Amino acid sequence: MLQINPEIRKYITEHTSDEDPILAELYRNTHLQTAYPQMMAGHLQGKLLEMLSRMISPENILEIGTFTGYSAICLAKGLAPNGRLYTIEKNYELRSITGNFFTKSDLADKITRLTGDARKIIPGLDIVFDLAYIDGEKNEYADYYRLAVNKVRPGGWLIADNVLWGEKILEEPKPSDDSTRGILEFNELVHHDDRVENLILPVRDGVMLIRKK
Ligand SMILES: C[S@@+](CC[C@H](N)C(=O)[O-])C[C@H]1O[C@@H](n2cnc3c(N)ncnc32)[C@H](O)[C@@H]1O
Repeated sequence: MLQINPEIRKYITEHTSDEDPILAELYRNTHLQTAYPQMMAGHLQGKLLEMLSRMISPENILEIGTFTGYSAICLAKGLAPNGRLYTIEKNYELRSITGNFFTKSDLADKITRLTGDARKIIPGLDIVFDLAYIDGEKNEYADYYRLAVNKVRPGGWLIADNVLWGEKILEEPKPSDDSTRGILEFNELVHHDDRVENLILPVRDGVMLIRKK
């Protein structure tokens, strides 16, 4: 995570709309029930995702990496009236918590949960997406991008989380560090892809916005 002056962080939180109570409950439950709760977007990044989604008003959203559903709920809030979010998670054990919270948030009928490896599922989706959110395994980001960018309409958007990867992008990765290598590969791939333009926002662990031309 990017280091930010704690007083500035407090000020930002105090001057940002409050967290939805259902998301606050999901945040607590994720800390109680899972081993790596820090994977979850959380209040500020979640609000950013919600606002970006509301600006785009997508008919179809693809999410890679549901985890406990925090970012899925944020993204689904911005869907067009008849829109749908397709979210892919390889860990079957998370289905009870996502099912419970998608229902609590009144978004269950707008969300399709797909269980399995996103790299196998995406090629079979015959859907044109307005927005894709990449937040799966870091060493697989380039694979997700190559698959997802073809499913996003011209003028559509991709968003990728963790593109600064705890500032490890500034160092030569250790031989065993596939995650940093994956993020470096992804960042180069997008930056040199003429089909898109991109911007890295220094929010939390780095959020990349990608617009398909
Ligand atoms: C960082 S977490 C996602 C956090 C979630 N987007 C949020 O903000 O609440 C990454 C998730 O991706 C899942 N995942 C990793 N590789 C995957 C793959 N190839 N296909 C589907 N899911 C995958 C992991 O099991 C994990 O739950």
